[in-house]
Amino acid sequence: MASVVTATPRWLLGPGPANVDPRVLQALATPVQGHLDPEFVATLDRIRDGLKRLFRTSSDATLAISGTGSAGMETCLVNVIEPGDKVIVGVGGYFGRRICQVAERLGAEVIQVPYEPGTALEPQRFIDEVKRHPEAKVAAIVHAETSTGVLQPLEEIGRALADTETLFMVDCVTSLGGAPVEVEKWHVDLTYSCSQKCIGMVSGLSPVTFSAKAMEVVRRRRRPPASFYLGIDVLLDYWGEGRVYHHTACSTLYYGLKAALDLIFAEGLEARWKRHAEVGQMMQRRVQELGCTLFAREGQRLPMLTAIVAPESVDGAAVRRALLEQYSIEVGAGLGEWKDKLWRVGLMGYNARPVLVDLVCGALGELLRSR
Ligand SMILES: Cc1ncc(COP(=O)(O)O)c(C=O)c1O
Repeated sequence: MASVVTATPRWLLGPGPANVDPRVLQALATPVQGHLDPEFVATLDRIRDGLKRLFRTSSDATLAISGTGSAGMETCLVNVIEPGDKVIVGVGGYFGRRICQVAERLGAEVIQVPYEPGTALEPQRFIDEVKRHPEAKVAAIVHAETSTGVLQPLEEIGRALADTETLFMVDCVTSLGGAPVEVEKWHVDLTYSCSQKCIGMVSGLSPVTFSAKAMEVVRRRRRPPASFYLGIDVLLDYWGEGRVYHHTACSTLYYGLKAALDLIFAEGLEARWKRHAEVGQMMQRRVQELGCTLFAREGQRLPMLTAIVAPESVDGAAVRRALLEQYSIEVGAGLGEWKDKLWRVGLMGYNARPVLVDLVCGALGELLRSR
């Protein structure tokens, strides 16, 4: 019989998905189980324990949503927002804007705190805005802004918001598993991530965690959350001891996530952060040696995602196409207004390795010299 696999293997060196460890791929080939199989639900318990360690939280309102990072974003917002609520959002890139869009669709009044793309938001500016609107339900910011390559400091903001009524929401889709994320220490109330970046799995699951303060807001809602699929109340009935059917969870994806979490803790979380930091620094040094400039300000750069300004003399889209066609390397384009102006190179999870810095910088160097 002819092979049924038609996908060309790629080096996935963009903003995600990334290539995954062969041991995770093996786990993805384990037999399919039902979503209420005793072995599978016991695995969900172990996944929850792993996610609590990863997020650095003791909250049992921690689970992985069946959906991508955007589903995690929606889960955090839909469960706490009611129409008319105020939501403050730091906006310095594409994903800050997406938080605004989701909150607006839920009927929230969004107050934007704009900051310059390529830089982090000055924490005190954000804190001052929250103080100006003490009735705000949520104050949200992106930890790792994948569109610009910027890492946002969170600790000071979390400390300032801890004694307020406002919930602190953080997007750690790109940072979780590749840079420190300290949910409890930083007083984060709502946060979400994805499976396909630094966690080292394929896309399809979105880890989320809610603090006790966030769960209290959920309990005090006037009406149940507008979404059943993403409703934390009904999800926790499935993830909790009752195991009440909620949706047909894909066992395959969860076994893959369990394997990815096992690999993270076998490596050690701190060692993994260090690996991403070192490989990111190496990448950033090497692209500058090629004559390229970096979009994010020095000292505020993400380790796992480097946003490179395409030199004016070259066609940014053509270089990306050549990387894919000649080297089978995928790198990301810019998002929105930066579409053909940026290349976004991700070295995440299994791909955060020096040999892949050599591969992508070697290919990029050859293409730049030939143009
Ligand atoms: C910072 C950030 N937030 C949210 C998302 C949305 O995640 P997904 O594409 O998995 O739905 C992404 C995706 O790249 C992201 O980088």
